[in-house]
Amino acid sequence: MADLSVNFCGIKAPNPFWLASAPPTDKAYNIERAFRAGWGGVVWKTLGEEGPPVVNVSGPRYGVVHGADRRITAFNNIELITDRPLEVNLQEITEMKRRWPDRAIVVSLMVPCEEEAWKKILPRVEATGADGIELNFGCPHGMSERGMGSAVGQVPEYVEMVTRWCKTHSRMPVIVKLTPNISDIRKPAEAAKRGGADAVSLINTINSIVGVDLERMIPSPHTDGKATHGGMCGPAVKPIALNMVAEIARSPATHGLPISGIGGIETWRDAAEFMALGCGTVQVCTAAMVYGFKIVQEMITGLEAFMDEKGYSKISDFVGAAVPNVTDWQYLNLNYAVKAKIDQDLCIKCGRCHVACEDTSHQAITHLVNGERHFEVIEEECVGCNLCASVCPIENCISMEPLVNEIDRRTGRMVDGSYLNWTQHPNNPSAAKKLQPAE
Ligand SMILES: Cc1cc2nc3c(=O)[nH]c(=O)nc-3n(C[C@H](O)[C@H](O)[C@H](O)COP(=O)(O)O)c2cc1C
Ligand code: SF4
Ligand code: SF4
Repeated sequence: MADLSVNFCGIKAPNPFWLASAPPTDKAYNIERAFRAGWGGVVWKTLGEEGPPVVNVSGPRYGVVHGADRRITAFNNIELITDRPLEVNLQEITEMKRRWPDRAIVVSLMVPCEEEAWKKILPRVEATGADGIELNFGCPHGMSERGMGSAVGQVPEYVEMVTRWCKTHSRMPVIVKLTPNISDIRKPAEAAKRGGADAVSLINTINSIVGVDLERMIPSPHTDGKATHGGMCGPAVKPIALNMVAEIARSPATHGLPISGIGGIETWRDAAEFMALGCGTVQVCTAAMVYGFKIVQEMITGLEAFMDEKGYSKISDFVGAAVPNVTDWQYLNLNYAVKAKIDQDLCIKCGRCHVACEDTSHQAITHLVNGERHFEVIEEECVGCNLCASVCPIENCISMEPLVNEIDRRTGRMVDGSYLNWTQHPNNPSAAKKLQPAE
């Protein structure tokens, strides 16, 4: 049986499935139930500095985008950091670490961008026995207006500075949680590394308005008639998170920096995808809020079964395995060609592929042949874009078949398995003939 245990930048856990800093990790009651359900670790709901806690709105703080079956595809919130007193949280963290010594307890922190504020809180967190800290440079609402959260995460110099303070004033591993509300995620990740971060985690939530009530002309959720942007998470953000994770994993400046992947993870497969792109652990928030703590059990058994089937005995056997296969567009092989192929036995003649290809792609699918309704790919026109396969309601009915040692009837060009990328292409005015392709 595969071994799911992890040692993530010095933090040990029986499995890589951690709950992200959010309502599921708000208090001892939740953490106790989460650990009983099987979660390998938690990142405690973000703590702020000593003093009167922050105040949340007393009304709807969540917004949702439902899919056609009312499943939640995106989730959005305007919640702030913990609104419970610091001392209460610290006592509960101490108690939970005593009760669950084998689980990872990381404490998320957000205090003002002043060295004294960090110097004050770090020893108190360390005294709880917590395994590490996560710096919340990500929350995009409320706290950012007070100069914290994403207001720090968007300025690499601040990220580096605060990370360095934390490494100077504490012995705990420091994970820097990044905001996706930035154009180049590599910059804050590099800054975190320069500041001495032991790891980065991403993504926090994305600035968003989930909808507008057209009767009242108010975006949702609203508080007494006024709305503000919230932070979006859930399944819809997973592709954005995967890309940002991959960017950090493959950048020479940050390659090898441990990454905890977050964003839309609901199943073991989602988790495995983040791991394949370089994540040593994953964190989950929305899925736990929607389906409850027990989802971790499917994640554990599913990942074990996957690893057994593939012959991976430990998590590190496949962490980052897909990273070498991520490249820049300019290095893609322009000599490679595929054609769509319709399985006539599976086709239900709905016509969606024809409409999509006819109206918005390359007019490469028939709808009538000899007066009969018939859907077939016209190879002379097909560019292999896979729009038809994407819209077809029948799984595997349309496959994309690579051409092998044959003439592409659209271009008249022989497809012989050779490699030619844009940097070498004759149509590229600045192609350097001798430039070697990237791996
Ligand atoms: C209601 C809510 C509150 C959150 N509060 C925090 C927080 O206090 N600190 C933090 O770092 N992230 C917070 N997050 C962000 C999550 O930790 C996580 O980064 C994000 O939700 C993406 O993961 P998901 O798609 O699994 O939800 C919060 C998210 C939600 C939905
Ligand atoms: S792959 Fe693209 S071009 Fe080819 S048939 Fe399908 S939609 Fe049309
Ligand atoms: S979309 Fe799929 S099922 Fe519908 S006509 Fe095209 S191939 Fe057949």
